[in-house]
Amino acid sequence: APLSGPVPPFGVSTRDGALLAVAEWNAKGGVGGAKIVPIVEDSQCTPDPAVNAANKVIDQDKVKFIIGEVCSSASIPISEIANAKKVIQISPTSTNTLVTVNADGSTKPYIFRACFIDPFQGLVGANFAIGKGAKTAFIMSDQSNDYVKGLAEAFEAAFVAGGGKIVGKENYTGTDTDFSAILSKVADAKPDMIYLPDYYNVVNLAAKQAKEKGITAPFVGADGWDSADLDKAAAAGGYFTNHYSPEDPRPEVVNFLKAYGEAYKDDSGNAQVPDALAALGYDATDLLLQAISEAGSDDPAKVKDALAAINFNGVS
Ligand code: PHE
Repeated sequence: APLSGPVPPFGVSTRDGALLAVAEWNAKGGVGGAKIVPIVEDSQCTPDPAVNAANKVIDQDKVKFIIGEVCSSASIPISEIANAKKVIQISPTSTNTLVTVNADGSTKPYIFRACFIDPFQGLVGANFAIGKGAKTAFIMSDQSNDYVKGLAEAFEAAFVAGGGKIVGKENYTGTDTDFSAILSKVADAKPDMIYLPDYYNVVNLAAKQAKEKGITAPFVGADGWDSADLDKAAAAGGYFTNHYSPEDPRPEVVNFLKAYGEAYKDDSGNAQVPDALAALGYDATDLLLQAISEAGSDDPAKVKDALAAINFNGVS
């Protein structure tokens, strides 16, 4: 999980959700009579540190199961290593199709995810925008980020298929902090909405600068916006697709909120409200442990078959 790098809150939530699931299973006696020992590594939402973390836990710690990474660009290189070494990887949150599927369309048998994929998320975002009356959209994206790139493509295809028109597309890179040149083009194009499928840290900058420029078209984004660190004032008026809502009345969600709030408090001692990352970290870990239990074995070859056939009620 990314505990440092550009998006550390993603890693903290994911880790905390996963560790809650482990604690609950251990309190019930573990899995298959064995206690679960979690090892946490910082993979930084970045390919090289992610590869190092994966090699370390596989080669030194001899783990058979990995929950992670959060970010698609880190999960994809980990998946190559895990699949080759027959180690099961479940990404809680990585939505790019290439995490579990090779470029030629074949699947990576040891790799799973707990979340939906971006062709779905982009379609939902596009249909939502069209439903809100948007006829034109402007897309801002970072083509060096697998998640952002894939989602921008999925949104464009769905928005156009739904009768919408893309009136502009501009690229930036993840380290950019000044979006004024792109936002001037947005202002000229006068779109009904702006699609920005990036993480909250980029949204905070771009949406704030858009408001300062007097742009009133709403931003629409995706799961990467979900963070306590999202600048609510900058993002005001915008929308994003997500995996989970704490207001969902299903018992899975109510029970999870209660357990999470008891386990984790904020600085003033109040129960923390889990975000989608925490919910999916919890679900991914539960999926894994249920699969090991059903396989009656911790042999990854058997667990992967149990995972592929699993029937599971998740929080997300
Ligand atoms: N879906 C994002 C990715 O693939 C990760 C993410 C999920 C971030 C949920 C925040 C919340 O990179």
